[in-house]
Amino acid sequence: MLTAVTGRADHVRRNRAVWDRWAAEYAGPGERLWAASDPTWGIWNIAEVQVGVLPADLEGRDSIELGCGTGYVSAWLARRGARPAGLDNSAAQLATARQLQDRFGLRFPLIHASAEQAPLGDACFDLAISEYGASIWCDPYRWIPEAARLLRPGGQLIFLVNSALLMLAVPDADDQPATERLLRPYFGMHRFDWPGDESVEFHLGHGDMIRLLRNCGLEVEDLLELRPGADATTRYPFVTLEWARQWPSEEVWKARKHP
Ligand SMILES: C[S@@+](CC[C@H](N)C(=O)[O-])C[C@H]1O[C@@H](n2cnc3c(N)ncnc32)[C@H](O)[C@@H]1O
Repeated sequence: MLTAVTGRADHVRRNRAVWDRWAAEYAGPGERLWAASDPTWGIWNIAEVQVGVLPADLEGRDSIELGCGTGYVSAWLARRGARPAGLDNSAAQLATARQLQDRFGLRFPLIHASAEQAPLGDACFDLAISEYGASIWCDPYRWIPEAARLLRPGGQLIFLVNSALLMLAVPDADDQPATERLLRPYFGMHRFDWPGDESVEFHLGHGDMIRLLRNCGLEVEDLLELRPGADATTRYPFVTLEWARQWPSEEVWKARKHP
């Protein structure tokens, strides 16, 4: 049974162990995304030109990717003129990121730490970004205040997550796709302890997310609800194309720190 529990802090250790184990499976997909000349987002690989996740002008911008995994998002940022750094909780994921840096001849700092306690100074970055990184594997009440601390006044936070709607419709069983029924309460949605493995995810309802961002001094600028194209495919079993064409399966939040 999936449970929503608050207040426990064992998830960083548990998610580190899980991601050290899963890292090998993510090396191949990571390499393909590093090789892509144009960014694509999320489980449906939706093209940047279609959704506009990234800021138009990245030249000279300092960015931090929170939960960078294999580091392809930071690679895309570097190629657009930004000065990225990647932070991740898993040494194995960072080892892949380092190999891919060598393979593609593109170096940027990689930091082994939890995004809930980043060993970085205040106000060092113009952009904090996370694609299924800290954005779902960290407690939002811990990582979003950290992201706000790391940003310069006027800096932007951009993160991609499973949609709140999807999280209500996904069964506990790992390989079962989202249903057309609401399977759990929306109110109080926060921590997800998945049965079958040690991993812990976090997802908030929209009202709670808006309130949290605002309490951290971040103004919501946009909420992009991603819709895959009619011929899109995904390697993930938890949602079908038919579902994702009708309801948003992924969402991108954009918020800006008060100048
Ligand atoms: C699905 S990957 C996302 C990264 C990248 N977009 C990718 O797909 O390779 C999730 C990453 O979040 C990282 N992560 C989990 N908990 C974290 C934490 N507390 N702090 C920083 N990173 C964390 C994992 O180690 C993993 O590399």
